[in-house]
Amino acid sequence: MGNYYGKHVLVTGSSRGVGELLARHFLGEGATVIGVARGPASYNHERYRHYQADIADPADLQKLFAALRTTAKTIDVVVNNAAVLTSQYAMIMPAGAAQAMVNLNLLAPFLVAREAAKLMRKAKAGRIINISSMAVSLEPEGDSVYAACKAGLTTLSNILAKEFASFNVTCNTLGITAIETDMLKQLPRDKIDAVVARLPIPRYATADDILNVIDFFASERSGYVTAQTIYLGGVH
Ligand SMILES: NC(=O)c1ccc[n+]([C@@H]2O[C@H](COP(=O)([O-])OP(=O)(O)OC[C@H]3O[C@@H](n4cnc5c(N)ncnc54)[C@H](OP(=O)(O)O)[C@@H]3O)[C@@H](O)[C@H]2O)c1
Repeated sequence: MGNYYGKHVLVTGSSRGVGELLARHFLGEGATVIGVARGPASYNHERYRHYQADIADPADLQKLFAALRTTAKTIDVVVNNAAVLTSQYAMIMPAGAAQAMVNLNLLAPFLVAREAAKLMRKAKAGRIINISSMAVSLEPEGDSVYAACKAGLTTLSNILAKEFASFNVTCNTLGITAIETDMLKQLPRDKIDAVVARLPIPRYATADDILNVIDFFASERSGYVTAQTIYLGGVH
């Protein structure tokens, strides 16, 4: 059984880090999880369906949804989690790295939300959750494009919330603080520690901090909660 028993949940970037945490949580609560990453699955579960797709490529993303439509009648919950970070001063940021962030961190969540909402519209229910970052508020040097994409997620989410409200689909955003993952490892630890030390609640995020808000947004009781962004750790 579990809180998500019988539900279909799509998690992008499910093979490691926060995405893996989310996928394992939904599986533990009884959901069928559709996970997406470019690489293979990093774990097995009887209710875990892994799709290898580069969702930064709109053509690959369309193929993914064509495949999903043949197997799942609807998707109850979508978490737009996959993202890439290249932290680099603007003067030396390669255009290709900036483009890659826009493609995966902003365009892909739009297309995933839109394609999922086509299924949700038929079911007249759905929850779309975007994973954002404290970088939106903190505006760290080197993260101009990354933070701008994450800020864009809130705007995207708020407008989709209006467009999808008539078929009972909510769209919300969770801005997380630092948590130990491969993405975090690529940044100098002393820099992250200094950022975390200045947070209103000066500590790293825990799995439960994240899952608590995910469960709130995903809850059937949260049908009147849409176009909201919640930041962890007192960030606003
Ligand atoms: N970790 C932090 O401290 C932190 C802080 C603030 C916000 N966030 C946000 O939290 C989310 C998760 O971050 P994370 O730290 O867990 O990242 P991560 O450890 O780098 O994991 C990224 C996941 O996304 C997948 N992925 C990457 N590119 C993809 C693509 N083009 N198509 C499909 N899947 C792709 C990866 O698998 P493949 O490589 O196999 O594709 C992997 O499963 C992101 O939205 C990030 O911006 C993280």
